[in-house]
Amino acid sequence: MKSIEEIRADFPLLNKKVYNKDLVYFDNGATTQKPQCVIDAVNDVYLNYNSNIHRGVHRLSDLSSEAYENARKTVSSFINSAKHQEVIFTPGTTSSINALAFSFGERYIKSGDEIIVSYLEHHANIVPWQMMCERKGAVLKVIPVFDNGEIILEEYYKLLNSRTKLVSVTQVSNALGIILPVKQIIDAAHSADIPVLIDGAQGIQHGIVDVRKMNCDFYVFSGHKIYGPTGIGVLYGREKFLDELPPYQGGGDMVDKVTFEKTTYNELPFKFEAGTTNYAGAIGMGRALEYVTEIGRENILQMEHSLLQYAMEKLSAINDIIIYGKSDQKVSIISFLLKDIHQYDAGMILDKMGIAVRTGTHCAQPIMERFGIDGTIRASMCFYNTHEEVDKLVEGLLKVVEMFS
Ligand code: ALA
Repeated sequence: MKSIEEIRADFPLLNKKVYNKDLVYFDNGATTQKPQCVIDAVNDVYLNYNSNIHRGVHRLSDLSSEAYENARKTVSSFINSAKHQEVIFTPGTTSSINALAFSFGERYIKSGDEIIVSYLEHHANIVPWQMMCERKGAVLKVIPVFDNGEIILEEYYKLLNSRTKLVSVTQVSNALGIILPVKQIIDAAHSADIPVLIDGAQGIQHGIVDVRKMNCDFYVFSGHKIYGPTGIGVLYGREKFLDELPPYQGGGDMVDKVTFEKTTYNELPFKFEAGTTNYAGAIGMGRALEYVTEIGRENILQMEHSLLQYAMEKLSAINDIIIYGKSDQKVSIISFLLKDIHQYDAGMILDKMGIAVRTGTHCAQPIMERFGIDGTIRASMCFYNTHEEVDKLVEGLLKVVEMFS
């Protein structure tokens, strides 16, 4: 097991200065920093074997095709999908959900059908379904939450009915860090034969994913939130559905035979990968998943749990702090406000101290409205953060409070 010093040395950006101060990076919910091995893997593509995948008979094309397909197998084993053909590469979580909303809508949805989401969703798991509902005349239903942000399962069970065609919920709230009871959500939907999409954008990096154990029908995530490059992500789907769904984009590589009269489509997963994909990104993401596996998912969970507990204790001791989303089921994300101080003011002052947090609605306006606020300060920590950095955040916040008193 690597020490925290060794882990931090793996991430070049963590050792940079901001305004001549040591960087405290607490914006991992937005994107994570990259270990040198991921940067090297992407560089290696462009320096040593760059060539378009699946298209040439030449050596370089073989090498890049093989590395790309190996990355697919790495993803498959990381999420424990039954087949690697069930892993579709996309540009990211948002693209995955938009793609599915289009294909699923075309194949299965008619006027009057219902889709269920929760109050905790990121806009990326609301708007594509609203657009699909508008196109198809379907209706979006929303699982409400308690005042602490946990979803009300009893209300969810009441929403399920014969018109429900899909449940699409997040694994972890990006705004509050609350972990949703996805197993119960999936089991209840499946008992009525309703498929479930889990948005894993904020779940996967905390080590909690096994699509077969969870028994979800679709799972989506982005590479950049799990220490991989930007512009690459995954749409996992159960083979039965992927076989039935129509492609959402037409173009090269997704076809079998093209004539002006009729086109037949390629087999899985290529049917959903039209055009030149971000193969260098996929290879980098594969390396990132290997890195996470090397660190150990259990170790990551433990390190992050310790950080969360410490930060909750320290932050709770600050006068006039309001923490949103207090729950036993949480990842290392804390969302809060300082009474009578706007989140942007606090965020800008922290920034000058070298502390990066996110402020605002976190692309989750409905849950902010549910709490009657227009945003929070969000500290999203991950395993490379330290208890000393939490102390710096607390010191910074105390200074903010002093400046405004
Ligand atoms: N969805 C990202 C976040 O939560 C950008 O910050």
